[in-house]
Amino acid sequence: MLFDSHAHIDDEKFDVDRDEVIARALENGVTGMINAGACMASSARSVELAEKYDSIYAAVGIHPHDAKSVQETDYEQLAAWSKLTKVVAIGEIGLDYYYDFSPRDLQRTVFIRQLDVARQMDMPFIIHDRDAHGDILEILKKEAKGLKGVLHCFSGSLEMAKEVIKLGLYISIAGPVTFKNAAKLPEIVATVPLERLLVETDCPYLTPHPHRGKRNEPAYVKIVAEQVAQLRGMDFVDLAKATDANTKRLFRIKE
Ligand code: NI
Repeated sequence: MLFDSHAHIDDEKFDVDRDEVIARALENGVTGMINAGACMASSARSVELAEKYDSIYAAVGIHPHDAKSVQETDYEQLAAWSKLTKVVAIGEIGLDYYYDFSPRDLQRTVFIRQLDVARQMDMPFIIHDRDAHGDILEILKKEAKGLKGVLHCFSGSLEMAKEVIKLGLYISIAGPVTFKNAAKLPEIVATVPLERLLVETDCPYLTPHPHRGKRNEPAYVKIVAEQVAQLRGMDFVDLAKATDANTKRLFRIKE
């Protein structure tokens, strides 16, 4: 059993064969997936997918890229979606200082407003952090006290990982852990407490080796989990079971 804690199955790259992709995930033991929203339209699609497929759960949220187009009513809609049984998180939300598609002060405002929705609706959150480690940590320390959440596709330092763990949060590992230039990830993966680790694909992006260059899909979370197990010197089945249990605990998903 495996849980892909972060996927974008609503992406148009899956329009031609979405049913087959979801079936192939199940055939490979991927019994659960969280489809992350990135704007209001993809959050709506996330909710629809969760209603249609047993194995899919939805996260709803606005990515920092889209901070510039947020309307006040969007926060109310996120809160309304949060009441649905299969909507399990607010995400993905956060900061992206690599692309800077929205002004940074606006990215921070929209991020904090969505943490407020998470608090108000008693929901865990999913964080996107690209080249914004310092501000992400500062905001989480101030604005997310008592909340639960995960830093998806973790790309920070070992020191940051330790701080994230201290805050009671989780770390999710994606395809880059399989890349030859994985840098600090192997050490982080080997040292993070097992009960705080999740695995994900972030498909259709971040395809793991040896499929790099092709479209990613939830079935490949197995490759990520195998690499994580190897780096921790653990049995694959034990790692798969632990990350599956961690995902269900964080997002309060009942068997
Ligand atoms: Ni994503």
